Amino acid sequence: MTDHGERYAEIQRLAELLRAGGLVAFPTETVYGLGANALDADAVARVFAAKGRPATVPLIVHLAAVEQLPIVTSRQSELALRLAQAFWPGPLTLVLPRASAVPDAVTAGLDTVGVRVPAHPLARALIAAAGVPLAAPSANPFTRISPTTAAHVRRQLGDRVDAVLDGGPTEVGIESTVVDASGERAVLLRPGGVSVAELEAVVGPVQRPTRDGDAALDAPQASPGMSERHYSPRARLIEVERDSRGQLVLSPAPGEASAWGLVRMVGGDATPFTGAAVDQRMPQDVTGYARRLFAALHELDEAGCEVAYVERLPAGPEWEAVADRLRRAGLRAADRG
Ligand code: TXA
Ligand code: MG
Repeated sequence: MTDHGERYAEIQRLAELLRAGGLVAFPTETVYGLGANALDADAVARVFAAKGRPATVPLIVHLAAVEQLPIVTSRQSELALRLAQAFWPGPLTLVLPRASAVPDAVTAGLDTVGVRVPAHPLARALIAAAGVPLAAPSANPFTRISPTTAAHVRRQLGDRVDAVLDGGPTEVGIESTVVDASGERAVLLRPGGVSVAELEAVVGPVQRPTRDGDAALDAPQASPGMSERHYSPRARLIEVERDSRGQLVLSPAPGEASAWGLVRMVGGDATPFTGAAVDQRMPQDVTGYARRLFAALHELDEAGCEVAYVERLPAGPEWEAVADRLRRAGLRAADRG
C-alpha cells in the first residue's frame, strides 16, 4: 500500500476509536491536541482525567470546516464570521454562545464554547473522518509544557492516550489566539498564533479583559485557566542579558552540583559555556522562536535541568505571545539587588 493509503487507513481507524469514545492525540498547526468526541460527555471526562485537568478549565472544540459552527454554537455574530473568514483554518479560537448539544463538561459549565478550525491537514482529515467535532486541549499534563512533537505526547502522557497520530513537528509551535467574539467587540483572552496586529487589521481595536473582573460591563472575565502557572519545565527559568561586550551574564552563577541550561538567541556572542547541559540557540525572528520554544523547554526537562538561563526577548508587540508563554513557564528576571 502507498504511504497515502496507509495514512488513510490509519485515520479511518483513529476516527473509529474516537467515535467509540477513545482518546486520540493529533497534530494541529499549533501544538498536538488530546482529542475526544466533543459531543460525548464520557469521552470528554476521560480527557480531563488523562490531563489531570480541573473541571473548571474549558476545552476547545475543533471543527473540520466553518459550516459545522451551528453544531456547537447557538449564535454566530458578524464579528465572529469575519474573524473566521479571515483566519480559519488557522490558529485562532473564537469564544461564542454554545449550542445545547455541547456537554457541560466541555465548557466547564460556561454558556460559551471555544471553537476553531485547525489548518493541519491531518487534523482536518481526522475530524472529517470522525464525523463529529473534537474537543482537544493541548496533549500535555495540566500545567506542563505543550507538545509540539508526537514524542512529547508519548513521553508526557504515555498510555493515558489510546493513540497518537504522528504529523512531525508542528508549524506554529505555540497555541492558538483565543478571542471572545460573543459580544460586539473582539476581546483577547489568550495571545497566540495570530497576532493582535493581524486581528486588528480585520476587525479594528481588540479589547483586553482587566485582571480583577472590574472590566467594562460588556467585557468578560479573563479566560478561565489562564491565571495559573502553565507550560512549566521543571527548571527554574532566569532571565539574563548581555554585557557591553555582548556576553551573556549568568547571574546568579550556576551551581556545580545540578544540571543547568541556556536558551539564547543565535547571533551575538556564541562562546560555549562549559557545564551547560543544554544550549539552545533560538531564532531571532518571532515565528522561528515560537516554533522552537516548547521543544527547547522539553529539552531542559529531558536533560534534568534544575535551572535555565533565558536570554531576554527583543522588545516589540509581536513578541507578546512568546513572552506570555515564557512568563507562564515561570521566567523571572534575575534579582540583581
Ligand atoms: O492551539 C490550541 O488552541 C491548542 C490546539 C490543540 O488546538 N489547544 C489548546 O487547548 O491550547 P487548551 O485546552 O490547552 O487551552 C484552551 C484554553 C483554555 O485554557 C481557556 O483559556 C480557553 O482556551 N477557553 C476555552 N473555552 C473557553 C470559553 N468558553 N471561554 C473562555 N475561554 C475559553
Ligand atoms: Mg494547554
